[in-house]
Amino acid sequence: MVKVRVPGKVNLALAVGPVRADGYHELGTVFQAVSLFDELTALPAARGEFRLSLQGEGADVLPADEDNLAMRAARLLAAHATEEVGVAIQVRKRIPVAGGMAGGSADAAAALVACNELWQLGLSQPQLHDLARQLGADVPFLLHGGTAIGTDRGDRIESVAARGRCHWVLALSHHGLATPAVFREFDRTASPGPVVISPELLAALETGDVARVGGLLRNDLQEPAIRLLPALGEVLDEGRDAGALGALVSGSGPTAAFLCSDADQAAALGRRLVGIAEVREVQIVHGPVPGAQIIAEEVAHG
Ligand code: C5P
Repeated sequence: MVKVRVPGKVNLALAVGPVRADGYHELGTVFQAVSLFDELTALPAARGEFRLSLQGEGADVLPADEDNLAMRAARLLAAHATEEVGVAIQVRKRIPVAGGMAGGSADAAAALVACNELWQLGLSQPQLHDLARQLGADVPFLLHGGTAIGTDRGDRIESVAARGRCHWVLALSHHGLATPAVFREFDRTASPGPVVISPELLAALETGDVARVGGLLRNDLQEPAIRLLPALGEVLDEGRDAGALGALVSGSGPTAAFLCSDADQAAALGRRLVGIAEVREVQIVHGPVPGAQIIAEEVAHG
């Protein structure tokens, strides 16, 4: 068996450009992988057999069949095997579903890494990245991890040499937001210009000036997400009032992310946010952390 741990992400910057011919938006984003992890275990199965089971966050609402992105990742990779393969995948989920933290994409990235190892395919990191891009715009970053710029559809990844540790409080919502719906709301109301990633933000990340990073957080999907879920605006205000260095919606939301100066401030803010009706759960995490990684492996003998 092969066990892989994969993080969720927040976007420190998300600049949305015009819709392209393929229906996706041109993006300029800065991702950071944070320490809220899903765990995916790939177990041997009979040739041609593909099974998936889910437990934890959203296990009751997610598809556990061919529609699941982790299953699609395993199928896509299987097409690269020289002989017929099979796998039984188990996913323990902690990343919120439809929360703007790329949980489904994370599981797909984990499935690529786990099955590549289980089936001993030996695909290189660049080959896995090519497959990741076919699965979804966020999947390549979840393979990569750390702090990185994403351009094109958000799937062309370039590392940022970020220093220091970011302490985040994540406020998970009772609600989910479907990413396409948030992009549609953006299209309805915005007139996007050229996509620019703030050079000041990149400089602040490279020098580890977390306070400055907090003031430069920006997400073009934040206003559309708040229009679809107005209570989200109040959650952000509460964190700002409490003195967070920065507050923003993660990706297409509705998870709200608050950057804090240290673990103590994060703990205090977390206690304050749990009292808000819109907040289902608070997670205190840090970033950057690595992308999808093998954490345990057992080889059957006999
Ligand atoms: O690639 P993925 O399936 O994760 O994207 C989910 C949805 O988000 C897309 O179907 C699209 O509506 C929207 N999206 C977009 N432009 C991007 C990335 C995502 O419009 N660059």
